[in-house]
Amino acid sequence: MVLIPLLQRCIQLLTLPVHLLSYLGLWDPLCKKIFPYVMSKVSTRYNHKLFHQKQDLFSSLREFAGPSGKLRLLEIGTGSGANFQFYPTGCQVMCTDPNPNFEKFLLKSITESSHLQFEGFIVASAENLHSVADDSMDVVVCTLVLCSVHSIEQVLREVLRVLRLGGALYFLEHVAADRSSWGYFWQQIYNPTWRYLGDGCCLTRETWKYLEKAGFSELKLQHINAPLSWNPARPHIIGYAVK
Ligand SMILES: C[S@@+](CC[C@H](N)C(=O)[O-])C[C@H]1O[C@@H](n2cnc3c(N)ncnc32)[C@H](O)[C@@H]1O
Repeated sequence: MVLIPLLQRCIQLLTLPVHLLSYLGLWDPLCKKIFPYVMSKVSTRYNHKLFHQKQDLFSSLREFAGPSGKLRLLEIGTGSGANFQFYPTGCQVMCTDPNPNFEKFLLKSITESSHLQFEGFIVASAENLHSVADDSMDVVVCTLVLCSVHSIEQVLREVLRVLRLGGALYFLEHVAADRSSWGYFWQQIYNPTWRYLGDGCCLTRETWKYLEKAGFSELKLQHINAPLSWNPARPHIIGYAVK
């Protein structure tokens, strides 16, 4: 359909300065600095709108505590730490994110989360978590991360490596809309520019297909429309997958 590339170009024209900066190699370093600030604001709004969904999702975390009763949790792409308020008291949290500029915002969330025990912050992509031992985690969490990673398959391989047998990956991710919908039509139009503005975020990933194929023993996955009004990232998947 010629309409899609035409409308993509129109959006690219409207955001020409970003594309020029990118052409000059200046956008990526700038975006890495600005994005944590933007996300700290966005995630407060997002948490407000999806409070009940997150509360429901994370309410079962305790069931995955190890035999000692401790819950060891690794969050990948932690960002500013928007999920900490939903974790149970006493949970041992290890944070990772490839963007070190999140640290300032993360430290603020850590200070406000005295109910948790923080084990550290590793600057790392989820495709390579080599400093996290095999079978060492009860739970891995990722929210709004698989839209941005380079390889979902490699991330899920790493998640399966670090989870103990019977541990779980908890996820809440925005995904591609139904291919026959207007939502998908608009996602395709916004996508090339959205990737720049959203630090590599892709609107049209069918992330559930990777979770289905990854080799988890059990997958609880629900498709929902997040209450985000006009936002093209409304279609979400939510649930957990057990190793
Ligand atoms: C939209 S933010 C979401 C942050 C946080 N998880 C939340 O829910 O508020 C996307 C996050 O994924 C991180 N990210 C991008 N590429 C990544 C990768 N390859 N591995 C792990 N995290 C990544 C970004 O640095 C950013 O913190």
